[in-house]
Amino acid sequence: MQIKFTETVLRDANQSLIATRMPFSAFEPILSTLDRAGYYSLECWGGATFDSCLRYLNEDPWERLRRIRAAAPHTKLQMLLRGQNLLGYKHYPDDAVRLFVKKSVENGIDVLRIFDALNDVRNVEVAVKAALEAGAEVQGTICFTLSPIHDLKSYIETGKALKKLGVQMLCVKDMAGIMSPKTAFELVSALKKEVGLPVAVHTHATTGLAFMTYLRAVEAGADVIDTAISCFSGGTAQPATETLDYVLREYGYETGLDPKALHEINGFFKPYRAECLQSGLLNPVVLATDTDALNYQIPGGMLSNLVAQLTAQKKLNRLDEVLSEVPNVRKDLGYPPLVTPMSQMVGVQATSNVLYGKYKTVSKEIKAYLRGEYGRAPGQINEDLRRQVLGDEKPLTCRFADTLPPIVEKARAEIGELAGCDEDVLSYIAFPTQAESFFLKREEKRKKVFTYTIERTDA
Ligand code: CO
Repeated sequence: MQIKFTETVLRDANQSLIATRMPFSAFEPILSTLDRAGYYSLECWGGATFDSCLRYLNEDPWERLRRIRAAAPHTKLQMLLRGQNLLGYKHYPDDAVRLFVKKSVENGIDVLRIFDALNDVRNVEVAVKAALEAGAEVQGTICFTLSPIHDLKSYIETGKALKKLGVQMLCVKDMAGIMSPKTAFELVSALKKEVGLPVAVHTHATTGLAFMTYLRAVEAGADVIDTAISCFSGGTAQPATETLDYVLREYGYETGLDPKALHEINGFFKPYRAECLQSGLLNPVVLATDTDALNYQIPGGMLSNLVAQLTAQKKLNRLDEVLSEVPNVRKDLGYPPLVTPMSQMVGVQATSNVLYGKYKTVSKEIKAYLRGEYGRAPGQINEDLRRQVLGDEKPLTCRFADTLPPIVEKARAEIGELAGCDEDVLSYIAFPTQAESFFLKREEKRKKVFTYTIERTDA
């Protein structure tokens, strides 16, 4: 019996615990050890890392990827990609998606975990095809959520649709940490049996379920689990790598991990963790176990957003009403999974319904959703609501990206000489403002180095 591990310290744990602020220099010295620890893959790119590099760390995200690749040549490098949304929340035209995926693989990515927040397979199709063409491994992803219409049957259908696209593996992605051990066992068993692909399971330790959930998922035949090295584990991140390695070995699984290397990795990150706690970057609140998500059946992040929103409006006394309105709004919208950005959109609408009257105001995001611009709703949308908001306007039946003109050449012309390569153009397409200011700073630095070199030669 074998179980493989994906280490998340460089991406999801970094993102969940310290807002993705870990600079390359903080983990560079440990990359060679990570490389020989025996992981199936290192999740190290995509998600918020790209934005954070440009916006806060003054790093070229592509350069980061190439340097990780060079320092860890033996382990698969993995990224998280939001299908047609790439690394953001809007839909990009197909030419940008194709080029982004191709360049990600060229710069060092081996495994792409590709998902769509609504589990609308049309929104991952172009990215999956491009990744397979580039020779990468693809984890076709099923976003896990709790709702009256999300059941084994619906997840199996999504799994089968992903298999048809040619993905080599499925991933069950529980971003809120609300998948119970019992559900994990049933879901993984059903996917293995009905779809017949290897299954990776991704969860978060937020509600305290994660260790049990992974154990049962592995017993059901899961092939890969996502964990974080212990000093960057727990809370809103993944459960600890060493603990699961220990437990699963005891049960007779081959993990392929080298406990000595894990010990070394953890020892390396400990002082950095202490620094993060000291500076406030790591807030002890995110490390606590928070079971509210289980009681309210909504993700912890969404709950804290609602509390913040109501506190700002001095209406915290209406929290219970808002919480009971959330399922109504969700039902009207056809039960979208409560992941970003849907969780925010549903939360804001529920609050507005309670404070100002049912659908008296509707955000432009909800309007776009009702138009079909986010993709197909998992369930039936309330037609009265749709008519009230859209009037006679017909909702889209095609994929939203089919309505978008190509963008790559236009962006290339727009950013001009500031971009040195395709990768720069893609950074600009994904995060125009941040990329442009990063390029300008880079240009300045180059000029300085150039002047310095000339002076030295003269002397
Ligand atoms: Co996650």
